[in-house]
Amino acid sequence: MKMSIRSSLLTTLIIAMSVLYLVRLAAGYIQTVQLTDEVYDEMLLNSVDSLAGWLDASAKGFDIKISSASSAILTHNNIDKYFYEVFDAEGKRLTGNTNLIDNETALRSLVKSGPKTTRVENSDVRIMAADVPLTRDQLKSVTIVLAETLNARKRFFEKTFVAIAITQFLAMSLSIACVYLFVSKAFLPFKKLKQNITERDTSRFAQLPEAGAPAEMAPFLAEFNKMCAAIEQDVRSRERFISNAAHQLRTPLAGLRNYASFGLELDSKEELKDVVLRIDKGLSGLTRLVNQLLALARAEREYFMQEHFERVELNNIVSRTISLLEPEAVNKGIELSCELTTDSTWLYGHPLGLEQLVANLIENAIAYSPNGGEVIIRTGGGPQIVFIVEDGGPGIPAEERERIFERFYRIRGSAGSGSGLGLSIVKEVATCHQAEVTIEDGNNNKGTRFTVKFHEKTASSQL
Ligand SMILES: Nc1ncnc2c1ncn2[C@@H]1O[C@H](COP(=O)(O)OP(=O)(O)O)[C@@H](O)[C@H]1O
Ligand SMILES: [Mg+2]
Repeated sequence: MKMSIRSSLLTTLIIAMSVLYLVRLAAGYIQTVQLTDEVYDEMLLNSVDSLAGWLDASAKGFDIKISSASSAILTHNNIDKYFYEVFDAEGKRLTGNTNLIDNETALRSLVKSGPKTTRVENSDVRIMAADVPLTRDQLKSVTIVLAETLNARKRFFEKTFVAIAITQFLAMSLSIACVYLFVSKAFLPFKKLKQNITERDTSRFAQLPEAGAPAEMAPFLAEFNKMCAAIEQDVRSRERFISNAAHQLRTPLAGLRNYASFGLELDSKEELKDVVLRIDKGLSGLTRLVNQLLALARAEREYFMQEHFERVELNNIVSRTISLLEPEAVNKGIELSCELTTDSTWLYGHPLGLEQLVANLIENAIAYSPNGGEVIIRTGGGPQIVFIVEDGGPGIPAEERERIFERFYRIRGSAGSGSGLGLSIVKEVATCHQAEVTIEDGNNNKGTRFTVKFHEKTASSQL
């Protein structure tokens, strides 16, 4: 199971607070023990003074006369027993109700050490000894040893400590409840986000609402929504591409099928040969279309990954492409004039992509030029490398110059049987190379001039 931040936060806080509670309880215990001893030792000392007041000399010696009221004071509401012994200044025992001290050294050390806990007559007691000055009888001072059992102390200690423990427990419970509420409240936006995600219409790439989200979440939501929008755009354009491609393939395929069924009816070898020739021509058109579709799909996948870029020389690509397209130009009696720069045309780019770009522009110039026309192909070096193709064809009206880059778009009544994909490929490749494609009228306002201007960064002479 996945660990939730909320529960781990709550667990950590509750553990920390419980540990804190135990520490405070231990401190409370120590403080209560000290307080109890302080209060009751003070009372014990007062009792020593009282005992001195009750000391009485008689014919038999010294004794302490304690009335029942005095006894109640000494024994804290009659729940404790007390033991006493009185010594004179030389350490001679004068009187006592039990034997507490054996010798003078022990007596002196008890006076010095102050109150302490020990056992007398099988009970735990608190014992202390103090020198008390006297002005009565023949004595100047006495040392009184007094011990009392611990019942009242224990009762006081228990009551005080239980009160402290309960108060602290209540305070801790209240703090835990507050922490639980605060943490739960802090995590409400996450709960809401989870709900929004589950309720989201995935088929529509619905965006998640950003309003009201806390600042910590805002960048994630913004990024997520941006990603959704990009994916949606991509999916929609692929959908359009596939349906356009299917449509584009359907027409020539239907034509080929018609020819085939027509051919099956024919007996004459001559007529059959004519039909086969038409099918062959149709098939090469179809092959070209499929190749262009593949090139476009590849352009999208590969060129975006600029890992495939390498050093290429534009002049070289242009010369090779021209020699490949020469036969087409010769067929139409078109002269291909080539003005290649002597400056460096080394680029950092995708070789196959650049070949497609150059070939499509030259092919168009040949295809849309009248028979016997001229196509001029130029390259330019310098910081910005350029490739220019100019023809003397019908030209491209200004209002069509944007649209002709769309997939499958052809200007109405265009010559030939193109698929409308060539310039989409040109644009795709140019974009990947950060190159700019512009269209102008040709020389003397006749024909068309396509210029591809590569970004300075793609020039690779320094590489
Ligand atoms: N050099 C040109 N001269 C005139 N029109 C052109 C030229 N190049 C392209 N076009 C127009 O732009 C359209 C799109 O071109 P393109 O994408 O290469 O598709 P295709 O050549 O297969 O029709 C063409 O149908 C044509 O109408
Ligand atoms: Mg074309």
